[in-house]
Amino acid sequence: MTSPAEIAFVPLDLDAAATSAGRIAIFVSEDGKLDATGRKLNTLTRKALTRLIESSTWSGLKSGELAELAYHAGLAAEVLLVVKLPRRATPAIARKAGAALAKARGAGDLLVIGTPLADNSEIALGLALRGYNFSNHKSDAKPQTGSVRFMLTDPEAVARAAGPMAALAEGVFFTRDLVNEPANILTTDDFAARLAAMQELGLEVEILEEPDLEKLGMGSLLCVGQGSASPSKVVVMQWHGGGDEAPFALVGKGVVFDTGGISIKPAGGMEDMTMDMGGAGVVAGVMRTLALRKAKANVVGLVGLVENMPSGTAVRPGDVVKSMKGDTIEVINTDAEGRLVLADVLWYAQERFKPSGIINLATLTGAIIVALGHENAGVFSNNDALCEAFLAAAAAEGEGAWRMPMGQAYDDLLKSRIADVKNVGGREGGSITAAQFLRRFVREDMPWCHLDIAGTALLKADSTLAPKGATGWGVMALNRLIADRYET
Ligand code: BES
Ligand code: MN
Ligand code: ZN
Repeated sequence: MTSPAEIAFVPLDLDAAATSAGRIAIFVSEDGKLDATGRKLNTLTRKALTRLIESSTWSGLKSGELAELAYHAGLAAEVLLVVKLPRRATPAIARKAGAALAKARGAGDLLVIGTPLADNSEIALGLALRGYNFSNHKSDAKPQTGSVRFMLTDPEAVARAAGPMAALAEGVFFTRDLVNEPANILTTDDFAARLAAMQELGLEVEILEEPDLEKLGMGSLLCVGQGSASPSKVVVMQWHGGGDEAPFALVGKGVVFDTGGISIKPAGGMEDMTMDMGGAGVVAGVMRTLALRKAKANVVGLVGLVENMPSGTAVRPGDVVKSMKGDTIEVINTDAEGRLVLADVLWYAQERFKPSGIINLATLTGAIIVALGHENAGVFSNNDALCEAFLAAAAAEGEGAWRMPMGQAYDDLLKSRIADVKNVGGREGGSITAAQFLRRFVREDMPWCHLDIAGTALLKADSTLAPKGATGWGVMALNRLIADRYET
């Protein structure tokens, strides 16, 4: 797997910094007033900092951006990176500054002189997250070389705060790797094996195979994978870090490739459907983070792993299948497969674990991209308290999330002529009817949120904390939700 940069936290020693090779980073406040560290480096570089601060380059920089000063007498380093920060930087600005350092760090060593202007552990998190690079399939990939060190007046305290954040970065990287991986590599078997390997971290991992799923009556989930050579699976990951309270459940859609099935998708862009396991990827990343930071909560993660292929054995439009709940479903469109998978995993999660609440994640509908673009995931819920707690956690982590409406009139669009429900409700309000379908498989009194991440799981352009490709959207918000709501 792709690993985040290892970051060391060491005591401040400016004389050592002056003789350090590679690159050095320092932070200067927006008003350009130098602190003791800045003054010392200004002297060493014969007022290069003063000249920068008085230049239009500096006034043109936004907070969290940096300027590069190269080859200064007085410093052994090849480049001095000067990062602009406001007097009291928010975590978002601190992470952005760290991301700027990740892009400017070069191939050698990076020495960051810590700052009182921001939380240095947040800067380190931004640096780690933006340093992601998926190069598994590049023959000429050069591994990132060079060390990263932060020099600080309080290295132990920052190291302590950075510990859980390193666990978070690892979880995000795990999600990104899964989402970026092509479908010929990340088959259902391979996905399950990667999850089973997390047993080493103290997670309890079980793999339910097709015969188990048949016994459980998961006809809805099973029909999706019946045209594929890869076997369908449900993987259950349990983290027991709390007392004897009921766990919180996370459920993910894990369609390793979505051709649409017999209702086949057009060729253009179909290659992106390798990311249709994004919901399962986020669940896996959160479970990894919880285990790595030994979270004091009980959380169970369940993912439905299937491949949606057209073939002589594939489910047909018009087929009627029976869900584990007992409701019969008329499959109108085999491309509305994610909800068929989630219906059974949601029901199983409730039957087996009696969780205190459930959040499911899925790259469920193209319609959510029409509604919200790539800035926000769609949030659907039957419970205001859980929904608001999630929205607050997402806002605090800078992960866009927007609540969408639900209601009986939308549910009415799912009436089937011959079965209890049909799997599509038409083009209009397509994300909402998809959510209504899921809601039928959630008990009335079970606090539940559905996150439609079709627009946020993968981006075609770089974002602040990720290069283009998989973002890991949701890992940070869910980790925070669990920390704030179930660990205190
Ligand atoms: N996996 C897709 C949704 C999707 C679209 C994810 C674009 C990421 C990017 C889902 O299975 C799907 O095909 N949904 C259909 C539903 C329709 C048939 C009711 C859609 O959105 O078109
Ligand atoms: Mn589909
Ligand atoms: Zn899909």
